[in-house]
Amino acid sequence: MSWRRRLSDLETVVGFVPTMGALHEGHLSLVYQALEQNEVVVVSIFVNPTQFNNLDDLETYPRTLEADVTLLQTLSTDRIVVFAPTAHDLYDGTPKSKSWDFGSVSRVMEGAFRTGHFDGVGTVLQLLFEAVNPMKSYFGEKDYQQLQIVKQLTAQLGQNNEIIGCSIYREPSGLAMSSRNQRLTDVQKSQAPLIYRVLTFIKDHISSMSWSDLVLWAEEQFESDLGWRLEYLTLADAHSLESKDHYVETEPLRVFIAVHLGCVRLIDNLDLN
Ligand code: PAF
Repeated sequence: MSWRRRLSDLETVVGFVPTMGALHEGHLSLVYQALEQNEVVVVSIFVNPTQFNNLDDLETYPRTLEADVTLLQTLSTDRIVVFAPTAHDLYDGTPKSKSWDFGSVSRVMEGAFRTGHFDGVGTVLQLLFEAVNPMKSYFGEKDYQQLQIVKQLTAQLGQNNEIIGCSIYREPSGLAMSSRNQRLTDVQKSQAPLIYRVLTFIKDHISSMSWSDLVLWAEEQFESDLGWRLEYLTLADAHSLESKDHYVETEPLRVFIAVHLGCVRLIDNLDLN
């Protein structure tokens, strides 16, 4: 790619924010941080087919390239490069996943419920990292498990690409920002902050209630009559992601959730320390 070669020739410090588009303030906060720490920021916009285990989710994923570019221009008109390849170009033919071994971190939660998801994420990120060759790459902690896997990926690839995790960006209601929020109806948007309320209740009560009682309480909050379906609620070590059945104050623990609201699947997580 000639633009990338030109940047290398100039020894420009390049930061990278990989996205699937439908940009929101959460993405912008990553780009903003990247602009503070790099001379040029590449933002990729690519809905990666190999990481979707559900065809309907892939087809309905919001695609808003023009609006995304306009939004990025509000941050900088001369230091952001938008990289929006076609699937055929990026994969050099038909998109296909490689098989990766990211160990036990990849087998729980998203890995267990979305077969092949992390193989697809690893495959597309290898291609994107090779095309962009960044010094630093920025990922949101909403996809906390993905962040751990990306750190392993760059170690396996032996790349000099620092992976930077950025805090979850939330709506004033507490709802974690996500491109999938665009698919919620107005009624669902008013229901969705329940996810964060459940996580904060857990954080506030984790030292006084047992984990099993908290799970029972949480299950009752997500009423199926109102369109909820809880997929997982997991207490886990923040580094190994090994699941735990009780809280230990001195251990780095996080709570993770995936829940369906109508036909939209939402995830979130919270640090418990
Ligand atoms: O987090 C995402 O949006 C995607 O998984 C990523 C990292 C852009 C890879 O397609």
